[in-house]
Amino acid sequence: MTFKNFNDALTPEKRVLDLINCYFKREYANNKNIRKKASAEILKYFIKTEDGSYTLKSDDVDGKSETMHTHHGAITESLEKFVKPSQLENKNEINVLDICSGLGYNSSVLIEYLDADSSPEIKLNLDMVEISLETMAAGILIPSPLNSHNIVKKAMENHLIQKRFARIDYEPATIPKNISFNIYSQDARGVLPKLHGDYYDAIFLDPFSPAKSPELYTVEFFTELKRVIKKDGILSTYTSAAPVRSGLIEAGFHVGEGPSFGRKSGGTIASPSEKKINKNLSLDDERMIALSDAGIPFRDPGLKHVSGKILFNRSLERQESRGISKFSSAVKTPLFLGKEVELDRNGRRVMRNMNKLGIKDLKSKEALNLICPQYKECICGCHETRPSNSKDRILFMGKRLEKMVSHEQKIR
Ligand SMILES: C[S@@+](CC[C@H](N)C(=O)[O-])C[C@H]1O[C@@H](n2cnc3c(N)ncnc32)[C@H](O)[C@@H]1O
Repeated sequence: MTFKNFNDALTPEKRVLDLINCYFKREYANNKNIRKKASAEILKYFIKTEDGSYTLKSDDVDGKSETMHTHHGAITESLEKFVKPSQLENKNEINVLDICSGLGYNSSVLIEYLDADSSPEIKLNLDMVEISLETMAAGILIPSPLNSHNIVKKAMENHLIQKRFARIDYEPATIPKNISFNIYSQDARGVLPKLHGDYYDAIFLDPFSPAKSPELYTVEFFTELKRVIKKDGILSTYTSAAPVRSGLIEAGFHVGEGPSFGRKSGGTIASPSEKKINKNLSLDDERMIALSDAGIPFRDPGLKHVSGKILFNRSLERQESRGISKFSSAVKTPLFLGKEVELDRNGRRVMRNMNKLGIKDLKSKEALNLICPQYKECICGCHETRPSNSKDRILFMGKRLEKMVSHEQKIR
């Protein structure tokens, strides 16, 4: 694997950001209002989503790009995947960390959903983190079907002026007194250590996919998120990837299924509190995370590695664990524990993967002991209590596998 395309944080398409940069340089230099022209010009590069909001493509990585939002609708995605799952209704003092705030939709949808701009009793503090000033500027240039987006645009414009990226106080909205913003235009990994602990009611985690921006899905980054979130706070993210969920668990979060919208699988909801998780992970997902190399998380000691290195190290760790300390995730091996398997080509692969870790029979005592934490009634004779949540079942199964493997190694 080469690192060459992974050296920088992934941002929207460079040619669009360059164009935006160019327009704002002219605004800054000549103090002329050229925003209208810039808006008309950059709109050509935006993709209109099904709810009337706009999205941008990311830069290419190995010839492929992603859009910043699903084509089903950026605003609808914000509402379904981030805002509603955060359970902020009926709260009056609300602190939210909007990571990878991009064009500002997630924060805008939250204001709209809570009706915060016309509810002075709500004190809403929004901390937005976005590495690219140009992307923030794109957010103020695009039209939006949401009124509350104008408030967020004003806050982003203030930041752009403070950073000497923009010069003109052009956005007409006024920020209501009960809504405050802190905007950070830096790598989120550098921002997190500066933030207060035990502070946020909700964290929106919205980077590009884990395969493209793994640095924002590592155990170390999640450990920082765990530090700043309140004990009953909720983190939401649209991805259901196994290393993201295992990383969250390793950092101390409880995890559950998020609502599915626009993508095949649901996202992930995480919280330090078990009570905030409405839907546990599926038993299959729990098993794959606990027992297979798919559950090996991304790591970034020191919060400083480039994405290519993080991906490379994880793939090495997976390779080294496969058949030695974890079941191979190929052919979903752990899902066959406790079952009959037909000895066709796939079945033989399953058995080979099992044998490598010393399981001779899928219904043997050892096999059943590994998956017993998922059953209401004990199936292996251990008579231990079944944990009530996905996190503890995953940790319990993982520990049993570790014990089984070290016993197996001793007798070999
Ligand atoms: C999927 S988009 C987010 C969309 C956004 N939430 C919105 O409402 O428009 C991902 C964003 O993450 C930003 N980003 C990438 N790496 C980052 C990092 N290390 N720290 C902060 N922001 C980052 C990108 O510039 C991009 O705007």
